[in-house]
Amino acid sequence: MAEKGSTGISTRSQISDYMTMDYNNLTAEALGGQGLSSGDLAEMKKALAAAYKDFEAKRRQGLLPFTELPSNSEIPKKCRKLADLLRKNIETVVVLGIGGSALGANAVFNALRPINHNALPPAKRQWPRLFIADNIDPEGFGVILDSLDPSKTFFNVISKSGATAETMSQFMVIHDMLQRSLGRTAIKDHLLITTDPQGGVLRKLVEANDYQSMEVPPGVGGRFTIFSAVGLAPLAMVGVSVYELLAGAKKAQQDFASPVLSNKALLFAGLNWLQTTVKGLETLVLMPYAEALSKVAEWFLQLWNESLGKALHLDGSPAGTGQTAIKAVGVTDQHSQLQMYMEGPLNKTVCFLGVEKFRSDVSIPKVFTEHDELSYLGGKTLGELLTFERLGTARALAENQRPNFTLTIPKVSAGAVGYILQTLMLATVISGTLYGVNPLDQPGVELSKKFTYGLMGRNGFSDMADRYHKGLSKKNKYVVK
Ligand code: PA5
Repeated sequence: MAEKGSTGISTRSQISDYMTMDYNNLTAEALGGQGLSSGDLAEMKKALAAAYKDFEAKRRQGLLPFTELPSNSEIPKKCRKLADLLRKNIETVVVLGIGGSALGANAVFNALRPINHNALPPAKRQWPRLFIADNIDPEGFGVILDSLDPSKTFFNVISKSGATAETMSQFMVIHDMLQRSLGRTAIKDHLLITTDPQGGVLRKLVEANDYQSMEVPPGVGGRFTIFSAVGLAPLAMVGVSVYELLAGAKKAQQDFASPVLSNKALLFAGLNWLQTTVKGLETLVLMPYAEALSKVAEWFLQLWNESLGKALHLDGSPAGTGQTAIKAVGVTDQHSQLQMYMEGPLNKTVCFLGVEKFRSDVSIPKVFTEHDELSYLGGKTLGELLTFERLGTARALAENQRPNFTLTIPKVSAGAVGYILQTLMLATVISGTLYGVNPLDQPGVELSKKFTYGLMGRNGFSDMADRYHKGLSKKNKYVVK
């Protein structure tokens, strides 16, 4: 049923319990020549059917274990149990992790806990504060450390490889801090290590010291781990309903069996693929119109960019394909980036992320009624204004032949967030098949790591330090002082 706000105008289309997708503004009917034709859509349907078949074959061979995570009941149970134990004595949880080991929990935490969760008094908050330290900036990390009482802090170190310099350096700092302030034997009560079940130095340390540990499931790359202990443990520790989150993800996984044209994960992949390959638009802007979903956009940026930006096709031929994802937030970026989207280079597709109903709303009082410039606002709510700004922006872009589409959830809930995340992970893997690249690796980030190892003096990497300095001397003439 359509819901009407105080304006009497429906802001609601046919919304499913979890998420609806409206891609009218990508089609020729809305955009004329700039839109996708029925021929394009027919091509897409064929390509998606083939990609889905390929996906299912891989899934059946056990090559896509992230698809099984929403149905796993052991991991959430274990996470809840630990969370309930910690809740009594722990004031603050700190996650040490980066990339896929941090962004998922950050996205869900920001979506589902109040914006001021960490600032609330303990009695009101009822769960520990959460800091996700995904940057080694010494000032930022220093401030977090300074704000902690080690005896009331629990650290969750998350690294699949156990080799990530950023996470491991943070781990070394907090390990030393715990040892100095609480003594060696107490470390165990303040530390959870989430890492590969077998390999890596973190697993060795777990075994040698009998630290508490959980597993990053084998075969699941960091950016696909949100529904494993990587995401669920810290989220359970701050009171997020991990079961509800997983129920949404499970529903998305079930919906992935739908026919192509009613399958949101397939359509998300297929439509964006057409935008790049047929229309030549190489940027995807994800623009949530709900502050709570802003970090979901950040999580997506890593998922999409790290999975699809590849130099080589699966057969080894040059690729250099992909669609660069960037983030904007409504309404803030209407007053910042929108001008470029409306009138700048026609190289973007905008995906709006909207909510039908805000979990709380603020009424705008009927004051200054004598001023036409203000009186139309009185009696409405900020939620209505935000929704109408989203609708107006989508329409304005379409009238300018700027393609856009919208994903709408009924409201920000654990189920809906779980649904969005699983849908987007499925879409990412399907996109890999459409572009003919491997969405599960990230070879492009290795070279910069090797330079860092060389510069930091790691054994075996002195050649990288030499290579760096050699390159540098040639470029000095272009340094301006
Ligand atoms: O998605 C990925 O695989 C990466 O972003 C990793 O999560 C990130 O590099 C951190 O790696 P690790 O968990 O091994 O420390």
